[in-house]
Amino acid sequence: MRTIHLALLGLGTVGTGVARILREQARHLESQSGARFAIRWVVVRDPSKPRGIELEDGILTTEVDRAISDPEVDIVVELIGGIDPARDLIARSLRAGKHVVTANKAVLAKHGRELFGVANASGRVIGFEAAVAGGIPIVAAVAQGLAANRISSLAGILNGTSNYILTAMHQQGIGYDEALAEAQRLGFAEADPTLDVDGNDALQKLAILSRLAFQSRVPLEAIRRQGIDTLADVDLHFASELGYVIKLLAVAREVEGKLALRVSPTLVARNHPLGQVHNEYNAIKVTGHAIGDTIYLGKGAGMMPTASSVVADLLDVAIGRAQETFRSLKLWDESPPGPPVSDD
Ligand code: NAP
Ligand code: HSE
Repeated sequence: MRTIHLALLGLGTVGTGVARILREQARHLESQSGARFAIRWVVVRDPSKPRGIELEDGILTTEVDRAISDPEVDIVVELIGGIDPARDLIARSLRAGKHVVTANKAVLAKHGRELFGVANASGRVIGFEAAVAGGIPIVAAVAQGLAANRISSLAGILNGTSNYILTAMHQQGIGYDEALAEAQRLGFAEADPTLDVDGNDALQKLAILSRLAFQSRVPLEAIRRQGIDTLADVDLHFASELGYVIKLLAVAREVEGKLALRVSPTLVARNHPLGQVHNEYNAIKVTGHAIGDTIYLGKGAGMMPTASSVVADLLDVAIGRAQETFRSLKLWDESPPGPPVSDD
């Protein structure tokens, strides 16, 4: 059986989940892929930190250059997050002939064109299922399952932390600060949680998903954004009194040949399907011309759900499916054929 060697960059919430699945489900993964995954390096900032998983001797390191240039390594799994040094590490890994799997929506939303360009030039792939909606296989659904459709709209809840906070405030009357602290403790929030509550994390995910769904170039600054950090307790109180809940919705719709995108707190009827999506769950409604409305629901943040998507990408690369999909999608092409983004 083939062995696929991995360099895991980051052993925080998601990295620990990935290491756990690789260890605990080794047999199952072998039968799914016909390959054995072996973690060759785990790169962290502080090797003295206690970790939630036992690692083989000698694989925990701070020497990232050594890990990504190791000729034995087949796939670099980037779970550090943020732009720097992730952008440079992904590009260098691809140039060194490694496939990359990442959960990092920030770097793909901002530097996707550059990074997918490097991947194409290097004949390598970037797997990014975990970058949008955590454990929900929405990238695969949009890129593959719905490929026959002209998609007219995407709408949903794409940030687990905001949804967790809003649920706690609506259902338990917990204050904003306390709910945010709990979302951080549970590992849902970004290292800088401002990105969750100001709508930027949802915006980055909407940009990536819209690029796939509509095949349009989506400049981040063209997306209107408001976060839940602009809400007051009284907003939630009156919404409840009137039979609504407030949800942070991310919406992209084609209107008269142009793509309109926004992220904003929105009143949703309590009995609407999106009004019943609670805690760290995400949900996305995708409408295609042939299939009509489809809804995808699941945990959008957290250790094991996100690791589920990362490991799915690893399997796809091991099988060779990711390479086929990647080639045919021509991701982040110079001149995408989709509608232009509205500047209204
Ligand atoms: P995290 O818990 O903060 O873990 C980050 C890991 O990266 C830590 O192990 C840290 O090392 C390491 N690290 C950070 N900077 C580094 C550097 N310069 N060099 C080497 N190692 C470095 O983050 P996370 O929640 O796992 O998130 C990782 C990525 O997944 C992010 O892109 C995030 O947006 C994405 N994501 C997260 C979730 C979620 O629910 N958490 C869901 C979907 C996507 P130390 O441990 O030594 O500090
Ligand atoms: N911080 C993100 C969220 C993690 O809360 O949705 C999943 O991308």
